[in-house]
Amino acid sequence: MAKIEFHELTKAYKDVVAVKGLTASIQGGRITGFLGPNGAGKSTALKCLLSLAHPTSGSALINGSPYEELEHPLKSVGAVIETGGFNPAISGLKNLKIIAAAAGIPDSRALEVLDLVDLTEARSKKVKHYSLGMKQRLSLAAALLGEPEILVLDEPSNGLDPIGIAWLREFLKKLSAKGHTILVSSHQLAEMQHTVDDVIILNKGRVIASGSVQEIIGDGTLEEAFIRLVESAA
Ligand SMILES: Nc1ncnc2c1ncn2[C@@H]1O[C@H](COP(=O)(O)OP(=O)(O)OP(=O)(O)O)[C@@H](O)[C@H]1O
Ligand SMILES: [Mg+2]
Repeated sequence: MAKIEFHELTKAYKDVVAVKGLTASIQGGRITGFLGPNGAGKSTALKCLLSLAHPTSGSALINGSPYEELEHPLKSVGAVIETGGFNPAISGLKNLKIIAAAAGIPDSRALEVLDLVDLTEARSKKVKHYSLGMKQRLSLAAALLGEPEILVLDEPSNGLDPIGIAWLREFLKKLSAKGHTILVSSHQLAEMQHTVDDVIILNKGRVIASGSVQEIIGDGTLEEAFIRLVESAA
């Protein structure tokens, strides 16, 4: 089963230490929420995991290797880190076909993933005419092109309407039920409480809590636990 591990990961940008000695392991086949206040270091840690940023020290490993050493990165890990990497002047379908071609993935997979994210009808529309929610779905479609076992999503519900958010929750649960390993960051704690199995909470670059949702929340809500944990770490 797929595995993601952070070993004493530290990432500094000049005088800002964004991630400080992060050690955590994400269990395969489960959905893990990656939580923390603004600036806690979530995106930085995820960027290190995807080799979009280089650790100052320590490591972030996928199935035991850094991302850049994976033999077929897109077939191992699908990621949604920042939307907006698409060519706005061409259709969603064309964008996906270009990404597929570059990764040696057959063209036909582009239509399959558009269907998975309910964008079949909009496939021929130019991306500049997509709504924010449609762009989010297109990013998810791109992440799924290589049929990766692992998904890494940085605030994928940003900009989605309530129907889109409910859709995403069910979508992630379905993938997880099929054995996919999902690491997802979000500020929508009520939503996360109903979506994830495990949580890792960061504050100022450090892990302040991790465990199953049940262990973290006890009889309360994830929001209550989050506020209590972050306030007592301050
Ligand atoms: N490229 C960069 N150069 C300099 N500082 C950076 C850079 N990227 C992030 N930082 C800093 O690192 C810290 C952590 O930022 P990061 O984006 O990882 O937090 P986050 O937990 O994802 O926050 P948010 O919830 O707002 O997305 C912040 O202080 C941020 O200003
Ligand atoms: Mg972020």
